[in-house]
Amino acid sequence: MYRRDFLKSAALVGVVAAADGCANAFRLSPGGMASGFRMKPMERVRVGMIGVGSRGSAAVRRIVEIDGVDIVAVCDLVQERVERARKLVKDAKGKEPVGYVGVDGWKAVCDSPGVDVIYNCTSWDWHLRPCVRAMRNGKVALVEVPGSLRIDECWEYVETCEETRVPCMMLENCVYGEDEMLMLNLVQKGVIGDVVHGEGGYVHYGAEYMYPKTDAEPPTWRLEEKKGHTGNAYPTHGLGPVALAMDINRGDRFDYVVSVGSRAYSLQDFARRKFGADSKFGNYRLDYNDINTSIVKTVRGNTIMVQLNCANPRPYTRMGLVVGTKGTFGTYPARAAIESSPGAVGKTWMDEKEFAALREKYMHPLWKTLGEQARKVGGHGGMDFIMDMRWVHCLRNGLPLDMDVYDLASWSAICELSERSTLRRGEPMEFPDFTRGAWKTARPVSFA
Ligand SMILES: NC(=O)c1ccc[n+]([C@@H]2O[C@H](COP(=O)([O-])OP(=O)(O)OC[C@H]3O[C@@H](n4cnc5c(N)ncnc54)[C@H](O)[C@@H]3O)[C@@H](O)[C@H]2O)c1
Repeated sequence: MYRRDFLKSAALVGVVAAADGCANAFRLSPGGMASGFRMKPMERVRVGMIGVGSRGSAAVRRIVEIDGVDIVAVCDLVQERVERARKLVKDAKGKEPVGYVGVDGWKAVCDSPGVDVIYNCTSWDWHLRPCVRAMRNGKVALVEVPGSLRIDECWEYVETCEETRVPCMMLENCVYGEDEMLMLNLVQKGVIGDVVHGEGGYVHYGAEYMYPKTDAEPPTWRLEEKKGHTGNAYPTHGLGPVALAMDINRGDRFDYVVSVGSRAYSLQDFARRKFGADSKFGNYRLDYNDINTSIVKTVRGNTIMVQLNCANPRPYTRMGLVVGTKGTFGTYPARAAIESSPGAVGKTWMDEKEFAALREKYMHPLWKTLGEQARKVGGHGGMDFIMDMRWVHCLRNGLPLDMDVYDLASWSAICELSERSTLRRGEPMEFPDFTRGAWKTARPVSFA
């Protein structure tokens, strides 16, 4: 039984109904709302990297390009990765960070008085623990996506953040994509009208990186996560930008989700073709649906479709779409249909020239200012660099981070809820209100 289910069934049923009609509204917040708060401005931001595999080392390469930030510590389970990251920093900045190797290295990073921020790029089962320890030590916790696959862990992020008053943000880079930020701007400037529906997904053929190179190697952590699990364990790339555009946790919130999955077939089929029918991986049974489709209903009455498909040969897309009273905007490719006056809209998307003018007029100010540099440094077309520029800027200037712990928790909650719904023939699963009612008065995201 999940911890929250237990709490729900065990106690305070009357209080729950009185509070919000929400299963978790009775929980007392140890420190009050955890959004909008700021750290004292940091002259230089001292970062400890936890996990410098593929994503973590790419982050090191970006962070060394940013002024006012120093990578002072690095840890990983694998020695060569630690050395590679230390060398990257030394080559760029002249000073080598401290390195820790082994399963306990993260504790030293989280306890170090010389570290202000931890940047956690480990595999999913290591996301929560370093963040909790860092916050308890007064250090900002930044963590890769998803924050967690489990709702009880999402609560632990929220409660620790509320109690310690130290920011915790999920590194959801897609929020900073050029087209996603254009989408946000179009919505916030009223061009799309009142938004009633959104869509977002993650379609990225991943069979090649999910399996090791040879059948003799052990399964990757990504493969292990797909044994005994189904649903959507990677929802935030598509969902995050749409959630911000639809004011989720800031005037609206996720109410419930229904989810269905296709059969678990294509990854194992890939393994049989690549390694042979009798190989270890050809017989490594996965339970994870090839394609998972979820529909989220919000309290305000809107809908969001979220999809995941990493098992099939198919072009990459994050499927972003917002549909409103005055128009529609979509990504992959970026396109729009906007009513110029009631009823005046074509049956097709805007033509290229019109769309270019719309993009020029509504390009997000962050992309106007940083776009050129971001494209040069790179990271998914530059959005990763803009994300890193932002948290550094916010911390150096004593500003709140762009996303808060409630975004982390509610966006990540889809992982467990979609799995439970998928296993129960699409039964609706209710979201906890991680904000305990504060979503009603919180203000839309502003990238201050
Ligand atoms: N935002 C994005 O676009 C994006 C892209 C890829 C991956 N990710 C996320 O980044 C994370 C890492 O993915 P990856 O592709 O880099 O995986 P990876 O396997 O290449 O790297 C993970 C690293 O963490 C290390 N690690 C694991 N446990 C550790 C511990 N206790 N202490 C220190 N180090 C530890 C591993 O040794 C490994 O080097 C995942 O959460 C993934 O979902 C995000």
